[in-house]
Order: sequence, then structure tokens, then C-alpha cells
Amino acid sequence: MQPKDRIILALDVDSVKAAEDAVRLLKDHVGAFKVGFELFTSAGPSIVDAVIGGGGKVFLDLKYHDIPNTVAKAVRAAVRMGVTFVDVHASGGHKMMAVASDAARDESEKLGMPLPVCLAVTVLTSMGERELREEVGVARTPLEQVLHLAVLAKSSGMGGVVASPREAAAIRNAVGKDMVIVTPGVRPAWASRDDQNRVATPGEAVKAGSDYLVIGRPILASNDPVEAAGRIAEELHGL
Ligand code: C5P
Repeated sequence: MQPKDRIILALDVDSVKAAEDAVRLLKDHVGAFKVGFELFTSAGPSIVDAVIGGGGKVFLDLKYHDIPNTVAKAVRAAVRMGVTFVDVHASGGHKMMAVASDAARDESEKLGMPLPVCLAVTVLTSMGERELREEVGVARTPLEQVLHLAVLAKSSGMGGVVASPREAAAIRNAVGKDMVIVTPGVRPAWASRDDQNRVATPGEAVKAGSDYLVIGRPILASNDPVEAAGRIAEELHGL
């Protein structure tokens, strides 16, 4: 994998036009584009066609969490769109994840479409120990719960997890080398932290075990997005 392929650009823009412009500008400088709730909900599924049609790969970040049958059907639909990564909440449980990953495999084989990497979101980084214990009723610490869910995701056939770079080393240790680790919360030393608190630099995240880095504003909000992506890729060179 080339260093630039590790970068997943968070396409946090509010129009199809802005998304298309970003794909045109950056498709040769990043590995994939993350389409999240806001863009998908405002632009509709055609945004995925627009990114792929423009030469980009898509991480469809809709964090499915529902009964197994419903999630499996949504994952089948994502395969039909040709996405490269898709995610579900690991807290949906073993059966939900197993059915989702089986559905991805089955649909891609049936249609001859690429098999996306099925990722599991462990614990949202916005959840602290208090929220987890008092609101959700989970007695484990956030890190214990992250590791528990990462291992569950692996045993359910998922291809990887989405997690904080601060958790990447422990996850890598718990799940071994075959699971993909995707981490947001990444900030080059030269970029603004924006509203991200517990950040890691791209180099730190990869050294800790991350395979892919979700990065938005340090690239998109920079005066020269191509140069910013290039600087990040350079930092990853040789890791
Ligand atoms: O602009 P920035 O690099 O902060 O964008 C990070 C992207 O990753 C955003 O789309 C954000 O929603 C997402 N994300 C995150 N932290 C998480 C999970 C997702 O920043 N824990």
C-alpha cells in the first residue's frame, strides 16, 4: 500500500458539487473518501455514484445498528453501490455482525462486485466512562469495552474496526494483524486541532497499528489541499 492510500478523506461537505470538486482535486492524493450521515442524508445515494464515477473509492460511514436482517439488507445495498468500506455498530452483537459480513460476501460474489471491508464501530469516542456506566449500563471501562467489542467483531467475521488512535495499539494486540484498524482523530503536528481533543499524528497512529486514517479538515480546510495530503503521505513514508 502506498502512503497516500492510508488516507481516507472525510467528505464533510454540504453539497454534491463540493463533494465532486473535492474528489476531482484529491482522488490521486488520498486512498478513499468517507461519506457520512450529513452528506448521505442531504445528497442521497447518488453521492456514492458521484464519488465512484469521479474516480474515488468510498467509505460509506452510516454505522448501521438494527436487527440482523435489516442490517444485512442495508449491507447488500452498499455492496451493490460498489463501496470499498462499510460500517456497523459492534454493539449490535455477534449475530448482527455475522449476518452483515456474510451478506457482503454473498452479494459481492453473486454480482461480481468488489467485497467491501466490513468495519465495526466499537465505542464512540464521545462516550466516557460515566456515560458508559451510568447511561448505557456497561460496567467495563471504555478501553475494556472497545477491546471486548473488537474481539467480538473479529469472531463475527468483520474485516476491521473503527477506533481512536489512542486505542489502536491495544486493539492490534487483542485482534492480531489480520483486522483492519481505521482511526479518525488524526492531526498532523502542523494542523489545527479544531474540536478534536485526544489526537495522534498520522505517524503515531500508523505506528500504533492503524491501517487507515480518517482525516477531514487538515486537508479540506487547508489553503492547498493537495499539498496538505502530500505532506501527510510523506510523513507516512516508510512506516
Ligand atoms: O475534520 P476531521 O479530521 O476532524 O474529521 C474527522 C472525521 O471523522 C469526521 O467525519 C468525524 O465525524 C469522524 N469521526 C471522528 N471521531 C470519531 C468518529 C468519527 O472525528 N470518534
